[in-house]
Amino acid sequence: MQLKMYRCRICGETYLGYENPGNCPFCGAHAEFFGPPEEFDASINTVELTEIERGDLESSIEIERANARFYLGMAERKDNDTLRSTYKRLAQVEAEHCSVFCKLLKVGKPADLLSPAETTGTWATDIAESLKRENRATALYASFAARATNERLRGVWNAISAVEADHVTLDDLALTYL
Ligand SMILES: [Fe+2]
Ligand SMILES: [Fe+2]
Repeated sequence: MQLKMYRCRICGETYLGYENPGNCPFCGAHAEFFGPPEEFDASINTVELTEIERGDLESSIEIERANARFYLGMAERKDNDTLRSTYKRLAQVEAEHCSVFCKLLKVGKPADLLSPAETTGTWATDIAESLKRENRATALYASFAARATNERLRGVWNAISAVEADHVTLDDLALTYL
């Protein structure tokens, strides 16, 4: 089998594998956003921003920062290794989203992006909190996409909104591992 390169148009990362992974292992974007690297436009994130888009990107960065840190906090718990590993991965996906929004706003990543934050204290209550956060992010990004005037921004918010909706289903699955 020949190892191939697939580049994600949402986060810009290159996946190395035998076939399209189905969704991006880095940002979670769906398979339709993968293509051959030669089709990737490296200037894709150079966009003119309106004041509203700027504010919506700032809100997006804050949401991803808070969620990545919350999941890192969950991943510090030692009593369920399946959930620890799952939420550690989820933290990395949210950190990747943060990084995409930072690139679009042309700012550096928050210094504490990978510092674990306080959680609610138990797996069950943390997963309930996660469900709230993921539902909120799904709806908020859909609304940011709807009012964005720039095509790239619309595409990114819609793609990431779909990823956060996937995370809602992941929380439901996680409850079966309590
Ligand atoms: Fe990606
Ligand atoms: Fe996210």
